Amino acid sequence: MTAKLSLPQSSKMLSKDFVYGVATASFQIEGGASKRLPCIWDTFCDTPNKVVDGSNGQTACDHFHLWKEDIALIDSLGVDAYRLSISWPRVITKEGKLNPEGVQFYTNILESLKSRNIKAFVTLYHWDLPQYLEDEGGWLNRNTAYKFRDYVELISTAFGDLVHSYATLNEPFCSSFLGYEVGVHAPGKVGKEYGRKAAHHLLLAHGLAMQVLAKTSPNTKNGIVLNFTPCYSETDSAADKQAAAFADDYFNQWYIQPIYEGKYPDIINKLPIAHRPDIVEGDMEIISQPTDYLGVNFYTRAIYRYDDKEYFFQIEPPEPRTDIGWEIYPQAFTDLLVSLNEKYSLPPIYITENGASIDDVIVAGKVEDVRRFNYYQQHLNAVNDAIEKGVVVHGYFAWSLMDNFEWAEGYLKRFGIVYVDYDTQIRTIKQSGYAYKALISNR
Ligand code: FCB
Repeated sequence: MTAKLSLPQSSKMLSKDFVYGVATASFQIEGGASKRLPCIWDTFCDTPNKVVDGSNGQTACDHFHLWKEDIALIDSLGVDAYRLSISWPRVITKEGKLNPEGVQFYTNILESLKSRNIKAFVTLYHWDLPQYLEDEGGWLNRNTAYKFRDYVELISTAFGDLVHSYATLNEPFCSSFLGYEVGVHAPGKVGKEYGRKAAHHLLLAHGLAMQVLAKTSPNTKNGIVLNFTPCYSETDSAADKQAAAFADDYFNQWYIQPIYEGKYPDIINKLPIAHRPDIVEGDMEIISQPTDYLGVNFYTRAIYRYDDKEYFFQIEPPEPRTDIGWEIYPQAFTDLLVSLNEKYSLPPIYITENGASIDDVIVAGKVEDVRRFNYYQQHLNAVNDAIEKGVVVHGYFAWSLMDNFEWAEGYLKRFGIVYVDYDTQIRTIKQSGYAYKALISNR
């Protein structure tokens, strides 16, 4: 493949200050499970019929043992930054103390990144809640937010100046809605009375952690990573438009409005009392701490029609789609960034995840992932269009560095710009990876 990822010559995304990175998450790549406490994803994987291929995170990409090679791989891609997450159950004991071995694992990685001049973007929670906390109610227990604060205080102090940026949480929508409302993610709880309550405690955890980071780590860029699936109406009918607006409040604005406006969307008043979060006085002030940046994860959009029972009904995504069934619709990315920028008074945005699941094949040591290349080309342009419309974006991270454990899909979906052979743990840079490298180094 000779194609090159390109941007208009005048693009701000071609400036050396624009940060390009790759992203991963602890549970999805590390393995090394015997060296940490169990988390909710271990339990979920052990429950029959939860993960499509019946797999788990015991070995994953064995990054726990191969981290040196992996950091060299990241360096070879020429990126400015690496977004990784910390496994809470690896660094904190049941007694709430630091586990020195776990901390050392990450300190080694952070030091290696620093020596190579790669900025470390550290996510403090990417879904691997210690199982012993879930046994006490998990995110339905308000106390979990305070346990998170304590963990953040200890770990951010231990890391000192090795970190460039902290994200408190990755995608609280997924932790709360997927994990506690529809149950397709760990811990697999199902009930409308759970989702919003879990979300509130996650947002509270974010606010408490921001307060702590302001003290322990005032020199890092501290913020949060939210995912957005922009909502479109199937037709122009008032009913369909209303359905899409309701879904947008329920899935997207629910997580950002509390942070930047200190309140939940008005649809909260339409929810049955039993489904509403338990808000204690002062919570919204804690949640709406100022952030240094907003991390935005984008993959696809969703289309809704009116439904008289549930307010909205999501129709099947049209083609073209990636192999995980998500529609490819880059215009939604530009629309999203522009609309967030209009609605809120935001700090600079980093695109903290964007990428495509493609059923790659490796032939004679090469992966010609043309469809992933095209996805990146279209979505980089979409970000550039938003920047031209006045949105302040400071960086872009490809999801993901390498193929990994894709949650309820197991190892069946490949998102990497590097191919992983799970039998041999051999990594092979895909054509999209080479194209990404060329874009970065040709600036
Ligand atoms: C996001 C997650 C990330 C990855 C991608 C495909 O929701 O943050 O871990 O699984 O989706």
